[in-house]
Amino acid sequence: FLVEKGNHRHFMAKEIYEQPEVVGHTLTQYLDMAAGKVRLPFGDKIDWKGLSRLTIGACGTSYYAGLIAKYWFEKLARLPVEIDVASEFRYREAPLPEQGLALFVSQSGETADTLAGLRYARQNGQAILSVVNVPTSTIARESHAVAQTLAGPEIGVASTKAFVCQLAVFASLALAAARARGTLSAEDEAGHVQNLISLPGLMARALELEPQIEQLSHKLSRAKDVLYLGRGTSFPLALEGALKLKEISYIHAEGYPAGELKHGPIALIDEDMPVIVVAPHDALFEKTASNMQEVAARGGRIILVTDAKGAAECGIEPEATIVMPDMDPTFAPIVYALPIQMIAYQTAVFMGKDVDQPRNLAKSVTVE
Ligand code: G6P
Repeated sequence: FLVEKGNHRHFMAKEIYEQPEVVGHTLTQYLDMAAGKVRLPFGDKIDWKGLSRLTIGACGTSYYAGLIAKYWFEKLARLPVEIDVASEFRYREAPLPEQGLALFVSQSGETADTLAGLRYARQNGQAILSVVNVPTSTIARESHAVAQTLAGPEIGVASTKAFVCQLAVFASLALAAARARGTLSAEDEAGHVQNLISLPGLMARALELEPQIEQLSHKLSRAKDVLYLGRGTSFPLALEGALKLKEISYIHAEGYPAGELKHGPIALIDEDMPVIVVAPHDALFEKTASNMQEVAARGGRIILVTDAKGAAECGIEPEATIVMPDMDPTFAPIVYALPIQMIAYQTAVFMGKDVDQPRNLAKSVTVE
């Protein structure tokens, strides 16, 4: 059916702006908000308690959503997770455990490598759960359980709203797993559910940062290379930020775990390379701040995405600071994804690129 751009210049902009709404919509399907509990639409179909391991496979932006989910499943549910891009996983001949669950993430539900990974896992005795945006897709049909993201049709080739909805689903799944595995008290679950409920409002506030980001993008558009850094769940966001910028502006970008800076990328730091640091004031903030200081000491240009406390305590003067609203750090990536997307979008638009149809890329890669 027909999807219109409305008042937006591009589908990507429309989809960025829809995010508070579609995340709210998705969460209503996974939470019993009044009771302060998670309630999965597919009930008790998954035996979280008996699981030995979770294997996650996906491609592109969906893979980065899976990488964030790994941190949540491990920390909240004490569930061991292994994750790989589907194009590697499908050929690796990885041994898969008894009582294992394999989770495949795909906006389209048709990505060839992800589907092949799913079939491999199925043949090797895994229960299959998929997180898809298209419930009639091949990946959904070949799964034992389906967790749908309610992002609505996504037209822009670079995924935005599907990504944050995948994260909202993963947050809910991780909490459900934690409850079933006895690693989360009812009180803590209620606290997390409350935090999830507050996300759409926080996302709406993050969108208000767009004028500042637009200014910033003019400078970024002159860069030849951009480095993105983060730790913990901000590391996959750094990867996603770099991917988005590459995809639509064609500026070379790399995402790195901030702690790996000294093992390579620090050699690249000079006055010409912007370094975008994703660092909410969480338990790892001080570690990331010391990496920022290393970059600053070498004349690097830092763009810091943080909150008020992080801005006050970073110990350097970044070239620009994007100050996000305060929030609990656990599910903060769902909100921090927005400035990351807007940086890429605004830079590409300023450069006159075709953001909805970037060269050489396809929305859905159904052949290998
Ligand atoms: C393509 C798209 C990306 C997407 C990836 C995986 O590369 O351009 O935006 O993240 O495929 O697609 P999927 O539909 O499986 O999430």
